[in-house]
Amino acid sequence: MKRLSLFVLILAGLAALALAPHAAAGFKPGAVWCDTDGRPINAHGGGILFHEGVYYWYGEIKEGRTYLPKVNQAWGGTRVLAAGVSVYSSRDLVTWKNEGVALAAVPENPDHDLSPENVIERPKVIYNARTRKFVMWFHQDSPNYQAARAGVAVSDTPTGPFAYVGAFRPNAGVAPLNASAEDLAPNPSNLLARDLAGGQMARDMTLFVDEDGTAYQFYSSEANKTMHISQLSDDYLRPAGRYARAFIDRSIEAPAVFKHGGKYYLIGSGCTGWDPNPAHSAVADSIFGPWTELGNPCRGEDAEITFSSQSTFVLPVAGKPGQFIAMFDRWNKWDLADSRYVWLPLEFDAEGHPVVRWTENPEFAQ
Ligand code: GAL
Repeated sequence: MKRLSLFVLILAGLAALALAPHAAAGFKPGAVWCDTDGRPINAHGGGILFHEGVYYWYGEIKEGRTYLPKVNQAWGGTRVLAAGVSVYSSRDLVTWKNEGVALAAVPENPDHDLSPENVIERPKVIYNARTRKFVMWFHQDSPNYQAARAGVAVSDTPTGPFAYVGAFRPNAGVAPLNASAEDLAPNPSNLLARDLAGGQMARDMTLFVDEDGTAYQFYSSEANKTMHISQLSDDYLRPAGRYARAFIDRSIEAPAVFKHGGKYYLIGSGCTGWDPNPAHSAVADSIFGPWTELGNPCRGEDAEITFSSQSTFVLPVAGKPGQFIAMFDRWNKWDLADSRYVWLPLEFDAEGHPVVRWTENPEFAQ
């Protein structure tokens, strides 16, 4: 009898272990990372907002079948139907609770910008202390990625639901602060000049809020060849009409921007669709530049392909000045829903340049 109850107890213990949320096991870069419900976290191309002691992670919901669109797409990439933007919350950066859909796609209207056939990528959320609104910007596009627009949504709470404001090509009718007459010369190959009146192309993007509360959108423009750094209006809902070009003809995308020791840093990738490539890094004394490239910040095995991943965000760890987490997506282009996360500590070398080393068991605990 005693033996039997011990056996039952052991069985029950094993069953409890098996059913326990996987989140308790912590995080391993590139492994499936589950939320507190035990489901894989679905927040790709994401970014993080720290607000009142809580981290909110926003990202692309990638679910369902991966397919090759029939539309003529410049880089022939695969995709899933756009399902919107998810939001997860955490206090320790390891245990994440699914807070639901922050911005939903609009399946009932094929003409809507947020129709699943269209593209919703790289969402980032910032908090506007003046208006007390949470403001989301993202890459909104047509199925063939030719619309190349910035989308905006707004909410009173960090978990949403966010109300869609609209999508547009930024900076219509405005010349960049650092453009010469030659840069603006109208000729068929000059995309900056071509798009001056209608607004500039905007694909991969990030947001950055400076210490004075001024916010900026960094977006890959001019057919992804050149980055634009565009100041936002005081309410963060529109471009302020002040922007600069950087990394001209360098084809850098997937921008992630952070500040350290009074300097601005950028981590980015090359433009090879879902396939990995060497990361880029750069530093500037002023946000509008000039930016100095510092090369690939990754070190260790597979550093030359950014550990088989692509940058999406650099998170300053709250209350730990100088501590940053570099967030990357490891895309699975044939099953995008199974894309994974590679989060690694970002450090600075003796010259003050950012360095990201492969780490099996990074510690993000506060
Ligand atoms: C990448 C980009 C991703 C996504 C993908 C589509 O270049 O960084 O965000 O747009 O292309 O193929």
